[in-house]
Amino acid sequence: MSPDERLEELRRRNRAAELGGGEERIRRQHKAGKKTARERLELLLDPDSFLEVDRFVVHQTHDFDMAEQRIPGDGVVTGSGRIHGRPVFVFAQDFTVFGGSLSEAYARKICKIMDLAMKTGVPIIGLNDSGGARIQEGVASLGGYADIFLRNTLASGVVPQISAIMGPCAGGAVYSPAITDFVFMVKNTSYMFVTGPDVIKAVTHEAVTAEDLGGATTHGTTSGVAHFAADGEEECLALIRELLTFLPQNNLEDPPLRPTQDPADRRDEALQSIVPPQPNKPYDMKDIVRTVLDDRYFFEVQATFAPNIVVGFGRLGGRPVGVVANQPAHLAGCLDIAASVKAARFVRFCDCFNVPLVTFVDVPGFLPGTAQEFGGIIKHGAKLLYAYCEATVPKLTVITRKAYGGAYDVMASKHIRGDANFAFPTAEIAVMGPEGAVNILYKRELQTTADAAFREARIREYREKFANPYVAAERGYVDEVIEPRDTRARLCAALAILKTKRDANPPRKHGNIPL
Ligand code: HXC
Repeated sequence: MSPDERLEELRRRNRAAELGGGEERIRRQHKAGKKTARERLELLLDPDSFLEVDRFVVHQTHDFDMAEQRIPGDGVVTGSGRIHGRPVFVFAQDFTVFGGSLSEAYARKICKIMDLAMKTGVPIIGLNDSGGARIQEGVASLGGYADIFLRNTLASGVVPQISAIMGPCAGGAVYSPAITDFVFMVKNTSYMFVTGPDVIKAVTHEAVTAEDLGGATTHGTTSGVAHFAADGEEECLALIRELLTFLPQNNLEDPPLRPTQDPADRRDEALQSIVPPQPNKPYDMKDIVRTVLDDRYFFEVQATFAPNIVVGFGRLGGRPVGVVANQPAHLAGCLDIAASVKAARFVRFCDCFNVPLVTFVDVPGFLPGTAQEFGGIIKHGAKLLYAYCEATVPKLTVITRKAYGGAYDVMASKHIRGDANFAFPTAEIAVMGPEGAVNILYKRELQTTADAAFREARIREYREKFANPYVAAERGYVDEVIEPRDTRARLCAALAILKTKRDANPPRKHGNIPL
């Protein structure tokens, strides 16, 4: 072969690899409202930054006439690229090649870039669109999945791992995304389930569509499996780019600074009146969160799941922070199973990756009811408590109104290593609300006298004595009672001081979080 012919061969092979499953299947992919793997990578990564590896890898199967069907790349596009100038490793499953199904060779390609990501301390992003295990390969495919699951687990807490579901993701294949830190889904074109509608119909006789069973809305709202449900693929990929701006490359780095024109000591008069004077009147905690953060920008995570607790990212004085906030506008801000699990995982993520935690507290307690008790609120609530206790990142807390009972302890209180604990003058820090306390303390008296004035007087007494921040402040459980308008200034100053915080947990293999 002449040198020119060799070059021509390379070009021919490259063209074949770039074409994936061919024009007809690409057309079908587009018709289904989906982009190809390469089109997605183009949208995800900075322009011209993608460096592909293994584009000529093919499977080694002979069964089922597979020897005649070898497509370069074998159904997954892998490599590295940049997002906002910082490196990432990526894989994008190509549904146009054998339905994106996973072969042994395909799994090896993913493992190769995961190993590189671990060695270099760089995030991994996986774009999933696959019919699952390659049926022609049998157990070799299952082994390939297990190789990936192992790497997902070992990479957990070392480099951020992000999954986007952009088509089918079914059976055991769901467990790779499930181990990663954030799951993005696209509405109407993606779904995730362990067993699909047909199996469910046969086993439990329930009729359900793929979208209702495992679509983006279901996982974003009902199951909590997905952290983001995007309206389309462009939005999904743009959200991933945005999320990464808050994260460090790995667990040994701090999250990236983004300088801001928003003064750290900005006072906001609106904060003086967001918390209503009536203790049971709902308000939107996100109004407080946004007002306090740099440029009033809050990047919410899991916005539609367990809305009684709010989690997400923002910045204070240019430094990324993870926000956890009770939401009095939903279930009065009570902690329930879903809220506890949602916030616990978020707190642990932030702690893994050196993102300081800012907690806004207005919580009347844990949600009562048999559904909660039978569902195990004891162990699920314990997850949040455990997550906060073990977190060693800077922990800043603002109690805006209620901090009652065990929930007071849980929500980054001083006792579990809160570093800077603030309270508004409207804070009520007590074992329970005044009405409940009086009903118990004066049970006998209330049984013998129907005197409403007596009860009202006792409630007033209790409220004056305990339903305020000063009992806690006198003990040093609250560092400072602040005017609401000064919240941003206090948090920015505390965060600046805590920049050099060092804290550690006792040496051990790992703790045993109540799962
Ligand atoms: C090999 C597969 C495949 C698979 C799809 N294809 N899934 N090839 N192994 N698992 C091929 C099809 O033969 C077809 O090839 C092409 O991909 C597109 O598939 P279609 O069926 O035409 O597409 P569509 O109608 O959009 O349906 C997509 C689908 C369906 C819902 C994903 O293909 C499907 O149900 N596939 C099987 C899913 C499955 O049961 N997987 C195993 C799950 S168990 P041609 O040549 O016609 O284009 C599992 C275990 C993981 O994954 C274990 C981890 C521990």
